[in-house]
Amino acid sequence: MTEAEFYTVYKGVPMSARLHHPPGLKYFEEFSFRSDDIIIVTYPKSGTTWTQEIVPLIMSGGDPASVETLPNWRRVPWLEMDESQSLNLEERPSPRMFATHCHYNIMPPSFFKAKPKVIYVMRNPKDVFTSSFHYYGMASFMVNPGPQSEFLHKFLDGKVNFGSWFDHVKGWLNAEDKEHIMYISYEEMIMDLKDSVARIAQFLDKSLDAEVIEKIAECCLFKNMKQNKMSNYSTAPPEFMDQTKSEFLRKGIVGDWKNQLTVAEAEYFDAVYKDKMKDVKYKFVWD
Ligand code: A3P
Repeated sequence: MTEAEFYTVYKGVPMSARLHHPPGLKYFEEFSFRSDDIIIVTYPKSGTTWTQEIVPLIMSGGDPASVETLPNWRRVPWLEMDESQSLNLEERPSPRMFATHCHYNIMPPSFFKAKPKVIYVMRNPKDVFTSSFHYYGMASFMVNPGPQSEFLHKFLDGKVNFGSWFDHVKGWLNAEDKEHIMYISYEEMIMDLKDSVARIAQFLDKSLDAEVIEKIAECCLFKNMKQNKMSNYSTAPPEFMDQTKSEFLRKGIVGDWKNQLTVAEAEYFDAVYKDKMKDVKYKFVWD
């Protein structure tokens, strides 16, 4: 299989061809959003799984039933994935919870009319790169990353799953109607998980006692989520994800890029970042 065959290109954005087929993408395109839907939006490897744990716990008032019994991809399904068609999402009661890795400009027409609540999670792209490099090596539906230096160029050029990190982040930061979007970073969640849970709860209009917030934060700690079979992908078949190569919940830290990139690679990354992000006013935690 050639590298090009690994991807299906949807409105200019490459996506794994194994997970995204035309009927699934048509379903996504025609999906009918409700204004009280909650959508977790991320560039892959930025903290999706983590937020798929936090948000259901907030919405259930801390009741762990759904995170203990439903795999995260059913609990908070990815709308653009083939599987969504078979989950009867139309029947789910409000407020529904979904995830997507899609860029702002390829969201379906109904999204722009309904204006559901969006939690946009960002992460230092050097750590996204590092996490991706390990993930591409363990997931059979991803292109083998090859040598790190080659993968670095592909990543920076957006020739990877879900395209350019820069375009993704800039697109969502420039979104219209920002009052329905909450921006938060992986780094803020690492720095103060309790505060992050409280802020997300406030954005979702869920009033929770301090003990409940504490309980949710505890449940969502890396070491605890790693034990949750419904969140650590241990139920995914090994031919799909080979966690002997790299665990899905791998390290869960900030700054692992320092262990991964050479000094020259990090400098090159910074130069590309500086150029591509020069017009962005948003103050990132990692800058
Ligand atoms: P690492 O590979 O750096 O460890 P996504 O869910 O968007 O694919 O992102 C996966 C990354 O989030 C992985 O990063 C994973 O370990 C990390 N992650 C998942 N749950 C986490 C948690 N509770 N705390 C910290 N990091 C977490």
